[in-house]
Amino acid sequence: MKHTFVIGASQGIGLEFVRQLLNNPEVELVFATYRNKETATGLLNLAAQFPQKLITLSMDITQEDEIEKTIQQIKEQVKELHFVINCVGILHEGDLQPEKSLRQINAQQLLRYFEVNSIGTALLAKHLMPLLRHRSRAIFATISAKIGSIGDNRLGGWYGYRASKAALNMFIRTTAIEYSRRCPKTIVVALHPGTTDTKLSEPFQKNVPPEKLFSTEKTVSQLLTVIHNLVPEHNGEFFSWDGSFLPW
Ligand SMILES: NC(=O)c1ccc[n+]([C@@H]2O[C@H](COP(=O)([O-])OP(=O)(O)OC[C@H]3O[C@@H](n4cnc5c(N)ncnc54)[C@H](OP(=O)(O)O)[C@@H]3O)[C@@H](O)[C@H]2O)c1
Repeated sequence: MKHTFVIGASQGIGLEFVRQLLNNPEVELVFATYRNKETATGLLNLAAQFPQKLITLSMDITQEDEIEKTIQQIKEQVKELHFVINCVGILHEGDLQPEKSLRQINAQQLLRYFEVNSIGTALLAKHLMPLLRHRSRAIFATISAKIGSIGDNRLGGWYGYRASKAALNMFIRTTAIEYSRRCPKTIVVALHPGTTDTKLSEPFQKNVPPEKLFSTEKTVSQLLTVIHNLVPEHNGEFFSWDGSFLPW
């Protein structure tokens, strides 16, 4: 946990990861990305409060050149990363809304889900390899969603979001296999956070019982417990917020 990197830290779950990592004395540095300054005021205020510990970088996960540039900036400051968590994801974005039925399927929307929710993690895995190839324990985690589990799909709907998270899960599993050869100390996992009160879930919270809607504080402390308990045998697995295994 010495050098950490949070991707998608402007708001929601990612911003709370930054807050909790800043309060952890084991953590020396937190690199954190945002896309728009307008939605990143909380993160930028934290950077002003913790100038020695928090380094903010701007990056759109759909632009490979921006990913490369960001990782190059990190490489100029450290040789190793020990904890990486990708919190980027979209469920709705402007006119893009989750599809209730096949009638609403639209190729452009599907591509958008895949480029943000799935391909971004694969590009991160590609460019982060040199920083995760070292002799200390390291974690490469991404926030997925239980709704991306094919085995658990009994409700249907939300085609693009579901399929993009299922693809993300496959990228994670496949990365875990390659990393076991190239970055053998890095444990690669997908994590389901549980329904969490953020901008992403906000339009869909009506039918969620209050005890099943977590605050970002609760979600992140639960996920940090899962992360803390990871051992090498967990490489390539998909975990829920309570530490239980989820079916692919
Ligand atoms: N909340 C839930 O109930 C829930 C449940 C299951 C899974 N998840 C997953 O948890 C993760 C975090 O979501 P959240 O609930 O914290 O949502 P959120 O508050 O909407 O945060 C999403 C983050 O993704 C960033 N982002 C979106 N598109 C991006 C792009 N093209 N490039 C870079 N950053 C981009 C956003 O940045 P901007 O500020 O620039 O938009 C924001 O920082 C997502 O993967 C989501 O699918 C959430």
